[in-house]
Amino acid sequence: MPAIVIIGAQWGDEGKGRIVDHIAKRTCMVVRYQGGNNAGHTVVIGDKTFKLHQVPAGIMRKGVAAVLGNGMVINPLALVEELDTLQAEGIPIEDIYISSNAHVIMPYHLLLDALEEKQRGAACLGTTLRGIGPAYADKYARCGLRMQDLWPLERFEKRVAEVLPRVNLELEGVFKHEPLTVKEIVDAYAGVAERLAPFVTDTSLLVNNALDKGETVLMEGAQATMLDIDFGTYPYVTSSSPTAGGACQGAGVSPVKIGAVLGVVKVYTSRVGTGPFPTELLDETGDWIVEKGQEYGTTTGRRRRCGWIDLVSLRYATRINGFTDLALTRLDVLSGLDEVKLCVAYEMPDGSITRDYPLNTDTLAQVKPVYEAMPGWSGNLHAARSLTDLPETARNYCIRVSELLGVKLDMVSVGAERDDLIVNSWPIN
Ligand code: GDP
Ligand code: IMO
Ligand code: MG
Repeated sequence: MPAIVIIGAQWGDEGKGRIVDHIAKRTCMVVRYQGGNNAGHTVVIGDKTFKLHQVPAGIMRKGVAAVLGNGMVINPLALVEELDTLQAEGIPIEDIYISSNAHVIMPYHLLLDALEEKQRGAACLGTTLRGIGPAYADKYARCGLRMQDLWPLERFEKRVAEVLPRVNLELEGVFKHEPLTVKEIVDAYAGVAERLAPFVTDTSLLVNNALDKGETVLMEGAQATMLDIDFGTYPYVTSSSPTAGGACQGAGVSPVKIGAVLGVVKVYTSRVGTGPFPTELLDETGDWIVEKGQEYGTTTGRRRRCGWIDLVSLRYATRINGFTDLALTRLDVLSGLDEVKLCVAYEMPDGSITRDYPLNTDTLAQVKPVYEAMPGWSGNLHAARSLTDLPETARNYCIRVSELLGVKLDMVSVGAERDDLIVNSWPIN
């Protein structure tokens, strides 16, 4: 069986975690291939809510290996905390593997993230302040530390001593911040480095061995297409490649081994942080969706901006990722509205109408959505387990989205709980 990639199609928080959790039960391994603890992936099992930040959501399924791939940036302190939380909940952590090539989020990355955001002032990006941008910047500037650099202690000290002068030049020169010492950094990470050492390995080898044996491997994207460093609303993006191409690079897997690319789409749109959002609802309906959907960030607790589904950006996401399959989430949240709207085109600043996503971020900030309206639905959808269990209008809405994107509809989620899911088909049988 080839690999299946799961990707957020919008601006994040589509419900990737719960979709990964579901599909993982048919796989042997789930790999996170980019991002760090800026992600917050939720899995709800009964009355327990698990929030995964760096460990892939596949960990919630017994016997499924959880891999943190080379494309990630890892905060070792936060990871140890996450492992402790999982263990305290009785989730086994023996089958976790961390790429020795994954980069480390260092204490100064967190500091720089905050200082850079402050310096941007009103033009801030609204990052999660987890040090993601600075950690990836160092990776590409070839002055990052990788997981394999964290021990033995002498090596770690040597590597920190090599990179710190450059960091301090920036801290002192640009931000007038006091310099950091090698000792304080080494002291902060030495204990956790030792704790994580047994988990660190060549994860690309593991993943490819599993694929060569005919096993199915799930690749779990964090963030989302519209936050992609190349394809998102730059500069209001994250610093990695959540899109399908990033999966190969971030896990060490050939493109020919990818068998399916599943896009996870919230039935409306949400966004945290700054940046253009054509279908944003700055009105009562927007507030209603936020409250009904409890749209507050899994990682930072920030209120998410909400609006109607945007088929222009979703068609773009379908093109960039080559979605073969679709999972729609949170259908229950829109229950209770007389009418729902789908953005099917944009009116450009010059008055012309386009169905193609404009690449210019300033233009995107000025487009006006062109809507198609559909009748809404009401009632409690949580018990629906097939499309035919849904009110006809809700079913028609899902089918319309799938038709407009030209992508097969695999799943529709109707509640946060693990089993609140309609499985229409599977990405790979
Ligand atoms: P991710 O980052 O894409 O994994 O998504 P998050 O976990 O950050 O946010 C999704 C939120 O929606 C979480 O609180 C989930 O528990 C919740 N959720 C997922 N699917 C559904 C659904 O079908 N209905 C409702 N009401 N909540 C859902
Ligand atoms: P999951 O995986 C939603 C957003 C931040 C900010 C921008 C850059 O849970 O869907 P960063 O800290 O990455 O430099 O912030 O990206 N962002 C997310 N928004 N869900 C996420 O992850 C996000 N990860 C980052 O809000 O706008
Ligand atoms: Mg999230």
